[in-house]
Amino acid sequence: MATAEVKTAEKTSASVEGPRDALTIVDHRTGRSYDVPIANGTIRALDLRQIKTGPGDFGLMSYDPAYMNTASCTSRITYIDGDKGILRYRGYPIEQLAEKCSYLEVSYLLLYGELPNAKQYEEWVHNITYHTMIHESLKKLMDTFNYDSHPMGMLIATVAAMSTFYPDARDIHDPASRTRQTYRLIAKVPTLAAFAYKHSLGMPYVYPDNDLSYSENFLNMLFKMPAAHGYRPNPTLVKALDVLFILHADHEQNCGTAVMRSIGSSHADPYSAVAGAAAALYGPLHGGANEEVLKMLREIGSVSRVPEFIAEVKQGKGGKRLMGFGHRVYKNFDPRAKIIKRMAEEVFSVTGRNPLLDIALELERIALQDDYFVQRKLYPNVDFYSGLIYQAIGIPTAAFTVLFAIPRTSGWIAQWGELLGDSEQKIARPRQVYLGPAERSFVPMEKR
Ligand code: CMC
Repeated sequence: MATAEVKTAEKTSASVEGPRDALTIVDHRTGRSYDVPIANGTIRALDLRQIKTGPGDFGLMSYDPAYMNTASCTSRITYIDGDKGILRYRGYPIEQLAEKCSYLEVSYLLLYGELPNAKQYEEWVHNITYHTMIHESLKKLMDTFNYDSHPMGMLIATVAAMSTFYPDARDIHDPASRTRQTYRLIAKVPTLAAFAYKHSLGMPYVYPDNDLSYSENFLNMLFKMPAAHGYRPNPTLVKALDVLFILHADHEQNCGTAVMRSIGSSHADPYSAVAGAAAALYGPLHGGANEEVLKMLREIGSVSRVPEFIAEVKQGKGGKRLMGFGHRVYKNFDPRAKIIKRMAEEVFSVTGRNPLLDIALELERIALQDDYFVQRKLYPNVDFYSGLIYQAIGIPTAAFTVLFAIPRTSGWIAQWGELLGDSEQKIARPRQVYLGPAERSFVPMEKR
């Protein structure tokens, strides 16, 4: 993008020329000023490169650890307004999608940009349903894990291993291959997740059942016992799980999605990229927070201990944080948390009230009126109440993040597809600011 250099900053002010989409930067090292175009509320970091102190200077860069203020891509998938607590997929408010759609409808929307019509939906559901089986060798691979392996570790490893079962996945520029891998990933990740759970219990795996819906089938694979006939997932719990899947399906450029795009940018196959994204999600500051919330609530143990715990968080004792609180983007209520909190009541009407709910409600009540949390704009996020629902459904704590990874797979693939179709994208390769030693001569070992 061409940028015109101007010599005097004063002449470019809006009062002289009227408003225009440009930024004037004055470099006080040289006295020069530069006009940098503004588009979509951003300037291009590469436009800074022309700002130099002399011919030997590399040019100015922006320094942004943790991407606090850097847009790495354009996207048409998910919109978030963190100050207003707005989340939309392809323009549709999350509240409407959660109320009116199935997860697979939303998954289609994320991937193809429009809600499916009846025929498209039927085909989509069919294609996902008929790809849910996993290769028997992959099942054997799962058998090799220790009984107490963390389900996320198993999921990450087996998703990565899927790339060896489907070598055609490396053909990322072939749309037909991409479609096949999309079906496989969305269909098989729940099977891997359920098998990981059964493995941890030392129980036989329950194969997918094509007569069941996506969420029904997942619960069936989790909780059906081969010896006991007649298990049928409770419809309220199926609906709740489907809504949770919708709420978790995408969240624009979060840590895991940024990893998905970063790995995808090297043209690795989508299984390897999803495994990497899932590894990022595993961390307790990201999708692993739902597991941490439950641990925290158990550690607090009673409503009367809440003020003491809040005090410890505020003192930052041992780096303690209020898990399930705070968000990089939401500085107002996380709209997903609002929906989940409402849904929790419906789930508890079937499962009985989760005793930890009272501790969670008290934590929220105190935190929302405490200056520490108010000033930092820390509100409950998606992970604060989701774990209580998972626990009520009967899902063990260690498997919570896996339940995040299942629906996020749709978002990851949608973002990966968008990346591959974006002519502006190249291999992701950030710059660094080197602060290490200047050149020095090698010292032999006996002289060190
Ligand atoms: N409890 C106590 N203090 C907090 C918390 C918290 N949960 N979150 C942020 N703060 C404080 C933090 O100590 C800092 O205070 P100060 O300015 O005095 O140093 C200030 O708030 C800003 O925090 P930050 O760490 O700079 O904010 P960030 O945008 O880098 O972090 C976050 C965002 C989500 C990692 C963080 O809020 C956090 O660790 N929350 C707990 C973990 C969690 O619930 N994660 C799930 C996020 S939502 C789902 C997902 O992304 O997967």
